Amino acid sequence: MKHFSIAIDGPAGAGKSTIAKEAGRRLGFIYVDTGAMYRAMALYLLRLGLDPKDQQAVEEACKGAQITLTYEEGLQQVYLNGENVSGLIRTEEVGNMASATSVYMAVRRKLVQLQQELAARENVIMDGRDIGTCVLPEAPVKIYLTASVEVRARRRFNELREKGVSCEIDEIEADIIARDRQDMNREHSPLRQAEDAVLIDSSYMTIEEVIQAIINEAEKKGLKR
Ligand code: DC
Repeated sequence: MKHFSIAIDGPAGAGKSTIAKEAGRRLGFIYVDTGAMYRAMALYLLRLGLDPKDQQAVEEACKGAQITLTYEEGLQQVYLNGENVSGLIRTEEVGNMASATSVYMAVRRKLVQLQQELAARENVIMDGRDIGTCVLPEAPVKIYLTASVEVRARRRFNELREKGVSCEIDEIEADIIARDRQDMNREHSPLRQAEDAVLIDSSYMTIEEVIQAIINEAEKKGLKR
């Protein structure tokens, strides 16, 4: 049976995961957070003490990371060589390492294969940077979700503050700009809007409005509920 896929791409802090998780729950789709896979790989490489600029070392080392996704009570859990690392990958350090090491083809090839296998088995809503352009080019629904740098920095700042992490908004904004630059300008699978993707700028939209826009798009493309 052919499965229905929804691809959501966009820059860091655009709200992809919050939105995709909730839209997935309402549609009964599996939510696949591909950034979590790159983060788990980054954690592995950080633990080895590798320099992200050392391409050869990173490409060789990534062979030793076995990354798997499971779903426990509907929530995605990420395992790295058998260890549940879901709670360890949400730091800025891991995010920056993920951005720096996801530029390498050996890293991408391994994780893209896993993502495509998941989409072949289930209805998925998958978010990342290259889902509509490379991972699931045939997805009937493609969304490019973005927001201004200021709005994305403010959201991330509030999120971290709520978790009790002390941070400076200027630093977060600088981080977001650097991450955008890296993700959009890399050689392999850079972040860009697929030609057939619908652009949603969520700067002045509520979460509910964005979710509705995605569900409407899926229904327009023939999703029966
Ligand atoms: O979405 P995130 O912040 O968790 O992603 C962390 C990094 O992983 C991101 O800066 C670039 C990389 N990434 C990628 O290259 N391709 C994806 N499909 C998802 C994430």
